[in-house]
Amino acid sequence: MTRTVWLAMGGGVAAVAIAATLAVSRPGGDAADPAQLLRANDAQVVALGQTIYTAECAACHGTNLEGEVANWRSPGPDGLLPAPPHDATGHTWHHPDQVLFDITKLGVARAANLQNHQSAMPAYEGVLTDDEIIAVLSFIKSTWPDDIRERHDELNRVYNREPRS
Ligand code: HEC
Repeated sequence: MTRTVWLAMGGGVAAVAIAATLAVSRPGGDAADPAQLLRANDAQVVALGQTIYTAECAACHGTNLEGEVANWRSPGPDGLLPAPPHDATGHTWHHPDQVLFDITKLGVARAANLQNHQSAMPAYEGVLTDDEIIAVLSFIKSTWPDDIRERHDELNRVYNREPRS
């Protein structure tokens, strides 16, 4: 009897230890890490971002972040690229936070310094505040699987270590 109680307690302690480890290591933009601009772990920021996504982005990027069309890598009849998915099948997660922020705020041409690039992606400067842009991108990141969020966190760390002109 005593032995059973002891085992049950031991199991409980192990479960608590595992839960604590997960909480600390969960990827997705940690406010304590200066390399992370996005806050995909902050439920309030993510909830605001979801509302903004539905209102401002879903019409092109898809209600479920699936992109505008299945064939999103090929230009449409207007010669412009369709809106890519923001889920894990797209390449949004290949870009660090700062680049995603710049694309959303300034549009693709200004963010990528491509003067003649024609794009259907609007610039949200003057439409969304910087905090709202961070919220909507945080929502997008919150939908990615943990391994992709972890790779994206690491991408930000590498990006922030590199010297830039
Ligand atoms: C009118 C349609 C439209 C709307 C609305 C729209 N986008 Fe886009 N977005 C696009 C298109 C088209 C592209 C691809 C542009 C290109 O490559 O020139 C794009 C690209 C992007 C990219 C770059 C993705 C990558 O993988 O390179 C990001 C980030 C992005 N959009 C974020 C947003 C966010 C956030 C919103 C809502 C606040 C939004 N977009 C609203 C059409 C739209």
